[in-house]
Amino acid sequence: MTKIMISDMPKHVGETVTIGAWLFNKRSSGKIAFLQLRDGSGFVQGVVVKANDEEVFATAKALHQETSMYVTGEVTEDTRSSFGYELQVTGIEVIGEAHDYPITPKEHGVEFLMDNRHLWLRSKKQHANMVVRNEIIRATYEFFNDNGFKKVDPPILTGSAPEGTSELFHTKYFDQDAYLSQSGQLYMEAAAMALGKVFSFGPTFRAEKSKTRRHLIEFWMIEPEMAFVEHDESLEVQEQFVAHVVQSVLKNCKLELEVLGRDTAKLEKVTAPFPRISYDDAIEFLHKEGFDDIQWGDDFGAPHETAIANHFDLPVFITCYPKGIKPFYMQPHPDRDDVVLCADLIAPEGYGEIIGGSERIWDHKLMKEQIEAAGLDPEAYAWYLQLREFGSVPHSGFGLGLERTVAWITGAEHVRETIPFPRLLNRIYP
Ligand code: 4AD
Ligand code: MG
Repeated sequence: MTKIMISDMPKHVGETVTIGAWLFNKRSSGKIAFLQLRDGSGFVQGVVVKANDEEVFATAKALHQETSMYVTGEVTEDTRSSFGYELQVTGIEVIGEAHDYPITPKEHGVEFLMDNRHLWLRSKKQHANMVVRNEIIRATYEFFNDNGFKKVDPPILTGSAPEGTSELFHTKYFDQDAYLSQSGQLYMEAAAMALGKVFSFGPTFRAEKSKTRRHLIEFWMIEPEMAFVEHDESLEVQEQFVAHVVQSVLKNCKLELEVLGRDTAKLEKVTAPFPRISYDDAIEFLHKEGFDDIQWGDDFGAPHETAIANHFDLPVFITCYPKGIKPFYMQPHPDRDDVVLCADLIAPEGYGEIIGGSERIWDHKLMKEQIEAAGLDPEAYAWYLQLREFGSVPHSGFGLGLERTVAWITGAEHVRETIPFPRLLNRIYP
């Protein structure tokens, strides 16, 4: 007997095959049973006819949700099912029984589902979220490999704090202090001086006391860094990268987007270039829209970002923020000392900031002043300063948050559904 995955069924029409599968739903009458089966690679309906084999039919009728089994049968085409195929079942071998599976097809509350995240992952929508996440990861590697970038892995245990000291996870490193990485950027700058164009893809940690639908304590970030690349050139890489990821998901995850009920027309429009608006103009725009709660110099809140994003209906770059609300390493604007050469990319449909990036200060003296002004320990940053002593060059980079990107592309309500085991303000279980 050929053992196959459900996703391979199109190649086996007319053959008798065996799949290892779990039962996720079942309908039956006195004569026929329809088994909804899943094996991780896909979903398929198994049809069991009593008249063909009473014993197999009796086994099928007694199955419970999430029982695991080997199912044998002939693969047939079926235009009515969204998958296009069915299995005409002739044999069932139960492997692992399941009784009273907690997640039934009825509605459950969020906390209950989160407590059962280890099981919730098996459900159709969560499965689709994970498949889309995987496609975004695949397309990310594809994009950077095709464009001359080398993957570099920065450390996770670090002694530096690129994005501010207030959100660090502290730990002991034998008798020294260490922090879990909140961004690999500083190390990626060193790597760019060695390898030219580099990207990292790894977990980052922020002890942020934020309880919003966009914040995780542990999230994954893609951080490219490019030597001899200035601010505007970096924006071009960013829009091409994001457009590539969106178009790849549209092409390779049709079934998943359908399961998620995603309006794909909005995603189809996502092609480079993306609109750009300066921070100054964004403030003026918000004032015209009636937001009188924000002044020049303030950071944007979610409602501000959403209003700007809705105006463009595409991802939009907000460029050149005030120096005071951005980290110490950003290159000042050549004509103004109150703003820096940076951009945040705001996703459409209220998903907020998905990229933060900038050109980096490459002048040694200025960087030294900035480190001191930020109140950082110059000794911990000695190596970083040295990068500006030996053949310093203009360079730029950015960080894309994977989970916010998954949330936007899948249309998820909350980032907790975009990562297998979310770490949230009050949750580290399961
Ligand atoms: O804007 P951020 O803080 O930028 C940096 O860390 C830079 N050092 C990156 C760089 O230039 N190499 O974070 C980058 C992105 C944000 O735009 C957002 O998508 C995501 O990381 N992010 C979070 N995602 C989920 N939960 C959180 N708490 C996040 N904080 C940031
Ligand atoms: Mg940011």
